[in-house]
Amino acid sequence: MKLSDNKATLSFSDGSPSIEMPVYSGSVGPDVVDIRKLYGQTGMFTYDPGFLSTAACQSTITYIDGDKGELLYRGYPIEQLATKCDYMDTCYLLLNGELPNAQQKKDFDYLVTSHTMVNEQMQYFLRGFRRDAHPMAVLTGLVGGMSAFYHDSTDITNPEHRHIAAIRLIAKMPTLVAMAYKYKIGQPYIYPKNSLNYAGNFLHMMFATPCEEYKVNPVLERALDRIFILHADHEQNASTSTVRLCGSSGTNPFAAIAAGVACLWGPAHGGANEACLNMLEDIQRMGGLAKVGEFMEQVKDKNSGVRLMGFGHRVYKNYDPRAKLMQETCKEVLQEMGLENDPLFKLAMALEKIALEDDYFVSRKLYPNVDFYSGIVQRAIGIPVNLFTGIFALARTSGWIAQLNEMMGDPEYKIGRPRQLFTGPVARTVKAIADR
Ligand code: ACO
Repeated sequence: MKLSDNKATLSFSDGSPSIEMPVYSGSVGPDVVDIRKLYGQTGMFTYDPGFLSTAACQSTITYIDGDKGELLYRGYPIEQLATKCDYMDTCYLLLNGELPNAQQKKDFDYLVTSHTMVNEQMQYFLRGFRRDAHPMAVLTGLVGGMSAFYHDSTDITNPEHRHIAAIRLIAKMPTLVAMAYKYKIGQPYIYPKNSLNYAGNFLHMMFATPCEEYKVNPVLERALDRIFILHADHEQNASTSTVRLCGSSGTNPFAAIAAGVACLWGPAHGGANEACLNMLEDIQRMGGLAKVGEFMEQVKDKNSGVRLMGFGHRVYKNYDPRAKLMQETCKEVLQEMGLENDPLFKLAMALEKIALEDDYFVSRKLYPNVDFYSGIVQRAIGIPVNLFTGIFALARTSGWIAQLNEMMGDPEYKIGRPRQLFTGPVARTVKAIADR
């Protein structure tokens, strides 16, 4: 970051001396006011619940321009990565800062492929869960559990350990997600098949059985790969910030990523794709297209507590560029599967049309986000709704680990420790129980 000529001055109406704070510029995007010395100089904290105006770190990985609807990984527009690269290119890019050349890609593919199997003992760990457990509960446990299986890559301060942990996490997440699915439906686990590519291997582990040959459909493989690319990173979102905060204590990389998985589960974050599909199914049950208007009235009624899931974003105040790409993929997949007349897709299109024209959404700059379409694509592929967020976690692992590594390599890295404005009772005396 570069020190700007601009400076910020904070003055107080009670006559306390004003203070000057440095301003830093990044390569693009808003400047930041450096408030690190504020407490030392004034005895005051800043107050920003939800981090609406707070940059918690400097980063070189992902840039979002929410007003333009632009998303760049290491400077490359998401549209180019989604059409010219695959998920392995994207992982390499996020981790290393550059796209791989042909040899580097071959080596990286080989490296990831060599780590796709999980320790056999993890099967027994998985068997401890109830079969009706939510896959995100299982995944949080399994990812955290990796720290109990891979002791040679748990020192977060050691770059070599972090590198091995990164490869293991990226390589094994598809295996774990597929194992969680197979366990739930009572089918045997399918071992990874390293002749397949990353997305193809995942489809194979999900849908093959030992009794018959499974042929990967290239359209579905490409669609899944695109889902992975689009979800790989999204700068300092809730789960990524959780991974950074968790990792900042010096815990091991598997534990930090498990914290990210847990955070992603929430319906305001990664759980939105599941919530969105459930919403579409609910409207369908209520009467489908005929009920869209009624549903939208509920969404606009603040007292109803109903939100249009898959719409709105903290950062995008324009069309989410990932939603556009996902809409394209959605059409391809539905066509491939002969589901062009899929009622849920039609419902989604009708909701989108109303929302894009309705003043409630227009005035609040609420546009479809990536989850609006990704659920329909995954459902068409045959992925059960409650596994959607697990797929998101699988894809986001590369971003989480790249962000974690960046934080650990930052000379300004410190344990994350927010402050508070205390509004509770001041010191008081405990009375004897008879007097309370
Ligand atoms: N449906 C209806 N109204 C909405 C929606 C929605 N989906 N999203 C925001 N609003 C309204 C709010 O009621 C608020 O209205 P007001 O100004 O009259 O009070 C205004 O738009 C701003 O909303 P906030 O909640 O303040 O916006 P915030 O940035 O905090 O929330 C969020 C962003 C959580 C994504 C929100 O838009 C939402 O809940 N969307 C639905 C869930 C979703 O799709 N999440 C996925 C996020 S993307 C991802 O994780 C991949």
